[in-house]
Amino acid sequence: MVVRDPELRAAVAGIYSEVYLGSYRESAGYLGRVEAKDPDTQQKTARSADALERALHEVGTIVIACLDGLRLDGTPALASASMLGGVLPATWSFMLAARARGLGTAWTTMHLAREREVAEILGIPFDTVQQVCLTPLAYTVGEKFSPAKRPAPDEVIHWDRWDTGKLAAPPVTGIALPSSS
Ligand SMILES: Cc1cc2nc3c(=O)[nH]c(=O)nc-3n(C[C@H](O)[C@H](O)[C@H](O)COP(=O)(O)O)c2cc1C
Repeated sequence: MVVRDPELRAAVAGIYSEVYLGSYRESAGYLGRVEAKDPDTQQKTARSADALERALHEVGTIVIACLDGLRLDGTPALASASMLGGVLPATWSFMLAARARGLGTAWTTMHLAREREVAEILGIPFDTVQQVCLTPLAYTVGEKFSPAKRPAPDEVIHWDRWDTGKLAAPPVTGIALPSSS
């Protein structure tokens, strides 16, 4: 779903901001607050997320990737993974294609805390269409990008058996958890 209408965009961006500033930014799960191995990078990423919240109000196009056919609330992992597997790679391909044309994107899911309201604003049939990703689409300011810092492959690849000595993902916290939504 491609949202270009200024009023609709403003309404969607407004909801994103309310979730970001009202629920996420103040929560213990906010990126700028959680402990990190590399605090500098963590703070930089937090500032980038803060900037995205502001920028979303300025971009001319917001794209919302949707899974048409069912909702995933309470769906077993087999169905969730299978259905998401049909739409998330396509979304990523879209982002890469945009990048190849000088356009920037940013994967976000925060608005899903109020997905139903966004569905109502855009006329998306909530009961049968699952929104999965929201991204701005806009020409980037500048072209100077550098690779993000990543752990060395050997820190995260498990060979033959799960190795508990490898890097473990931090516990999931924040607004994505049903108990805190
Ligand atoms: C599933 C998913 C949901 C995300 N949701 C948000 C979001 O709502 N707001 C935000 O600022 N960043 C969000 N991000 C993070 C950014 O889009 C991030 O810049 C992007 O994932 C690239 O950084 P990374 O590869 O280090 O994760 C999300 C990332 C993922 C993978």
